[in-house]
Amino acid sequence: MSGNSAPLLLRLFSGSRCSMSAVVWSLVGCVLMLHLYSLVRHKDVVTGEIQSHTVQNPQLRELQKVDEEKIQMPPPRKRSPRAAKRKPKRPTTIIEEFLDENSQLRGTFFPGQKTAIDPRKDGNDSFYYSPAKIWLDTDGNPIQAHGGGILYDEKTMTYYWYGEYKDGPTYHAHKKAAARVDIIGVGCYSSKDLWKWKNEGIVLAAEETDETHDLHKSNVLERPKVVYNENTGKYVMWMHIDDANYTKASVGVAVSDYPTGPFDYLYSKQPHGFESRDMTIFKDDDGVAYLIYSSEDNSELHIGPLTKDYLNVTPIVQRILVAQHREAPALFKHQGTYYMITSGCTGWAPNEAHAHAAESIMGPWETMGNPCIGGSKIFRLTTFFSQSTFVVPLPGLPGIFIFMADRWNPADLKDSRYVWLPLIVGGPVDRPFDYNFGFPLWSRVSIFWHRKWRLPQGWRVMK
Ligand code: DGJ
Repeated sequence: MSGNSAPLLLRLFSGSRCSMSAVVWSLVGCVLMLHLYSLVRHKDVVTGEIQSHTVQNPQLRELQKVDEEKIQMPPPRKRSPRAAKRKPKRPTTIIEEFLDENSQLRGTFFPGQKTAIDPRKDGNDSFYYSPAKIWLDTDGNPIQAHGGGILYDEKTMTYYWYGEYKDGPTYHAHKKAAARVDIIGVGCYSSKDLWKWKNEGIVLAAEETDETHDLHKSNVLERPKVVYNENTGKYVMWMHIDDANYTKASVGVAVSDYPTGPFDYLYSKQPHGFESRDMTIFKDDDGVAYLIYSSEDNSELHIGPLTKDYLNVTPIVQRILVAQHREAPALFKHQGTYYMITSGCTGWAPNEAHAHAAESIMGPWETMGNPCIGGSKIFRLTTFFSQSTFVVPLPGLPGIFIFMADRWNPADLKDSRYVWLPLIVGGPVDRPFDYNFGFPLWSRVSIFWHRKWRLPQGWRVMK
């Protein structure tokens, strides 16, 4: 029987050229139909998802109504006739204006003290996020938590925001070095509503005297992230540790019994024996936490699970987004799918964000393109003149997150601003995929530009 089946099949296909091409075209048709169905269904699921929210709470529609921006370039500055003769001036770009501390547009990118958001005043600004405006804590001081991340602590039912405390002078260690502020430490702020933040002090401080210490003020401490470990009952902080020239390229680990510290610094290392610069930690629903870091000269990211106590990496590691040159990773999860926002690598200067998605956290990861919506083209191409640092899930609002980014001010790093915007997972993606025959298995990630916005009133009650 089996001996005859092969020739029979061959005969079937070779017997007529017409039936062979019919089979091929039917297959192609089937694949196309399936693809179309998946696109339509996907769109329905996603819009249905968002609609169900908006029916429950029409204010959510507000989150998707973006503001438009028009930045008027200032007239070229007057130069002496001699200078103009020597070198004709090429037109400056908006990014150059943004980086120029003497630009006439300075106040547009870094609004002054007068417009500061002050939680001590009850007024029109209450509970409104105003990206890039000075944001004061409950003592009336500008919040110092750059490159930060947020931990929701179940025990105290409080949010904690950890970040780089940069309230010192900006300088260059040498002519070619990047702008820097000496390490002061990791700042911590607490909040019940994600808007009013109380300063909890510096929870991991710089080392003043011992020059061999990782935390010596002359080094670099960036992007601290804290996770709670249920097995040990400890709060574990991971951070980027480097020397002033960014050649140490390591991660540091610190631990505390309390979310408000003090944290004991344990050690630094190059994870899995690789360089590690921008990094983040993501804790999954099953309690496994992962370290994600830019490596190999920032050309790719690496991801790997931590040990059960979160104090180390395990030998398991995966290279992802290879040759894509991404940094500033911020991970989040929605309906079993993992998402990530990254930036390009241009020092303190802003660049275009990308959104990525994966069915398994260890990859493969797909790049979905630029998630930014609104503002203007240059706003979208510069992540609204900022760089990703964290994505905060909102209990009771599935699919809706807060995108946290830093608007760095390399002329005065302590005056860098926070750009917090609504991020929504929903809608069809706008790029075909390499995997799954182009079938989109996940939704679009959109970050909406607002000059002023707030979370839906009563979102905490919806929990
Ligand atoms: C970009 C990184 O994302 C920041 O955290 C910081 O390391 C700057 N580069 C330094 O130039």
